[in-house]
Amino acid sequence: MTAGKALELLLFVGVIMAQTGEVVHLPPPKTRGKMSVEEAIARRRSRREFENVPLTLEQLGQILWAAQGITDREHGFRAAPSAGATYPFETYVIVGAVEGLVPGIYHYIPYGHTLVLLKRGDFRRALCDASLRQEFIAEAPASIVLAADYQRTARFYGERAYRYVPMEAGHIGENIHLQCEALGLGTVMVGAFYDEQVRDILDIELDPLYVIPVGKPK
Ligand SMILES: Cc1cc2nc3c(=O)[nH]c(=O)nc-3n(C[C@H](O)[C@H](O)[C@H](O)COP(=O)(O)O)c2cc1C
Repeated sequence: MTAGKALELLLFVGVIMAQTGEVVHLPPPKTRGKMSVEEAIARRRSRREFENVPLTLEQLGQILWAAQGITDREHGFRAAPSAGATYPFETYVIVGAVEGLVPGIYHYIPYGHTLVLLKRGDFRRALCDASLRQEFIAEAPASIVLAADYQRTARFYGERAYRYVPMEAGHIGENIHLQCEALGLGTVMVGAFYDEQVRDILDIELDPLYVIPVGKPK
């Protein structure tokens, strides 16, 4: 086992031990789909109207994999590029209607491709209010929140991290966007929200950069 892999495994175990919540194993992600990347790019559009239908666990797992899933287990590399592989982002999911999940706030663990339940309850309305009442956030079955620990990148790159980290939010966001499109789902990248309110809902100290509602488009 390489040092990188060992460190990641330790982090994974540490996160699981620190978060005593329920652990949900996501279905294995697919690396072949029905839509080409060219078609997904051509069709990609911000979608703000969602049908009142739940996501499946498979759909959610696939989107989380596209966001931050491990694509090279030997080195711990992920689906989206990261400056010096410092991986400053944590991925949270505010679940309202996902088959097989109780409504709540979940934390995605890339190494295990698992979700850890942090808090039970439907926090979609609170997230919508924190996001300047953009109503589609309350209507989407789930929203992903990307939150960064700038220090992970700043430790290596100093001030440059304040440029690199938002760039990485863009990479992760576009992966989510294209994966949604390829699955026949819709999303929109939301940057307009009160950071402090989103932090309070999630009970985190990290910096939220994107709120990303996901659902079946109308
Ligand atoms: C950094 C960023 C922040 C955004 N914030 C919001 C937002 O708060 N609410 C929203 O409805 N759309 C938001 N958008 C989506 C843009 O409005 C959308 O991408 C743009 O209108 C172009 O449309 P298209 O994505 O369909 O090509 C954001 C996009 C980016 C890149």
